[in-house]
Amino acid sequence: MKHEIKVCMGSSCFARGNMNNLEYIENYINENNLDTELELVGAHCQNLCENGPHIFVDGKNYDEVDEEKLQNILESIK
Ligand code: FES
Repeated sequence: MKHEIKVCMGSSCFARGNMNNLEYIENYINENNLDTELELVGAHCQNLCENGPHIFVDGKNYDEVDEEKLQNILESIK
């Protein structure tokens, strides 16, 4: 099954880290040849700005995603 990684691209999440997170995910997908397994999509503000930046994996919400959290998330779905 293809996993969906949804990155909130609303201005709050974007400014709080998703700009870098997005780049990190793109590189990770390329380096590991995961483009057949992971689908990367963007989302509008999810009205959860307070504890952003947010990333959703198969609909599951992750709060305050920094690079360390992101690494763990990606490793767990690889
Ligand atoms: S900008 Fe991401 S929840 Fe609002």
